[in-house]
Amino acid sequence: MTALKCKAAFGVVMRTFSDRALAIQPTGVRKMFDLAGDDVISFGLGEPDFQPPSIAIEAFHQAMLNGRNKYTTTAGLPALRAKIAESWADYQSGLDENNVCMTMSGTNALLNLFMTLVNPGENVLLPEPYFPLYGPDARLVGGEGKYYPCLFENEFIPQVADLEALVDENTVAVLYNFPSNPTGGTLNPEQRDELLAFAQKHDLWIISDEVYDRIVFEGEHVSFMGTGYEKVMVVNSFSKTFAMTGWRIGYIISTNVEAMKQVIKIQYYISACSNDAMQYAVLEAMNSANDYPSMMAAEFQQRCNLIVDRLNAMPGVQCHRPKGAIYVFPKVDVPGMTSEEVAMELLKDGVLCSPGSAFGPSGEGHLRFAYTISQEDISRGMDKVEATLKRLQG
Ligand SMILES: Cc1ncc(COP(=O)(O)O)c(C=O)c1O
Repeated sequence: MTALKCKAAFGVVMRTFSDRALAIQPTGVRKMFDLAGDDVISFGLGEPDFQPPSIAIEAFHQAMLNGRNKYTTTAGLPALRAKIAESWADYQSGLDENNVCMTMSGTNALLNLFMTLVNPGENVLLPEPYFPLYGPDARLVGGEGKYYPCLFENEFIPQVADLEALVDENTVAVLYNFPSNPTGGTLNPEQRDELLAFAQKHDLWIISDEVYDRIVFEGEHVSFMGTGYEKVMVVNSFSKTFAMTGWRIGYIISTNVEAMKQVIKIQYYISACSNDAMQYAVLEAMNSANDYPSMMAAEFQQRCNLIVDRLNAMPGVQCHRPKGAIYVFPKVDVPGMTSEEVAMELLKDGVLCSPGSAFGPSGEGHLRFAYTISQEDISRGMDKVEATLKRLQG
């Protein structure tokens, strides 16, 4: 019941929670975790099972000893922002610290962009299956998410016809997420250009969630940065790049300095600034451990090949071979059972994964496996998955 309806029903002012808090639900992804025991083989967690580069951990400690324990400017440490800008030079020349705002994670960056770009009553086109924060973020700012499908039969790539069918006069932005969580989908430059042209035609902001940009297995990451479109806002994070999920540090980057001024203003009211010492640690990681993400990506690729080969050899399972991120999203056909029921059966047999339906209705019939465990554990887990599916399929 909303606050207003409470008033009407009881004739007195009853203090309850904001409509925005009541409008959002906890994500379905956590549900399986809460049921899992300690001894399961977990394909649940979307975080690299690596430690951050030790040089960054040492730099973090040293920075604190050096007194870097204070507020920084809202946009963040200029040297780090300049380094981040430089790291995008292959995509876009001429970027500098004014194009970057540090945030306290990709999650924070996303919320910032919804706050900066979306008015109440306006809508944003969102992928489905989705990273579960997008829709609630739209609701939190009084807007609405309208979902475009990213289907298995299209290699999880959005189709412009679907986007055209959704866009209306209240659409202000389209969010793209490549490499994708949960599907592992990646774009080629032609596909990127079609999605870009769609946004340009309708004068939409592009919120491009590229947090997996350094976990790409074949060729180069295809970015919306460097396309020349002034309404591109890129979300990034060091969670996956340097296995720093618990550190909570990310950033927004855009060629659009006017937009960045708005982003920085909003960021002040979200967190005042990012973490002082940590920014020195991330700078050290960028300077001295720049090959760390490719080292992780090489391992993820091997795991990816292992899990895809195993899954495709199982009855009723079809799995694309992703070119990036840390997930597979196979179609798993068990007649008469939902993906949640299949995931529950797997859990009983000692394997934790996420039901596809936790990422939206078109995820039904799929399971998401994060290959963030060793190759040995992947093999043991896949043995169990195979046995469970054989049992369920009779
Ligand atoms: C697609 C995507 N975007 C954003 C995030 C947020 O990352 P973080 O808040 O850890 O920076 C995640 C985390 O899993 C993700 O998968």
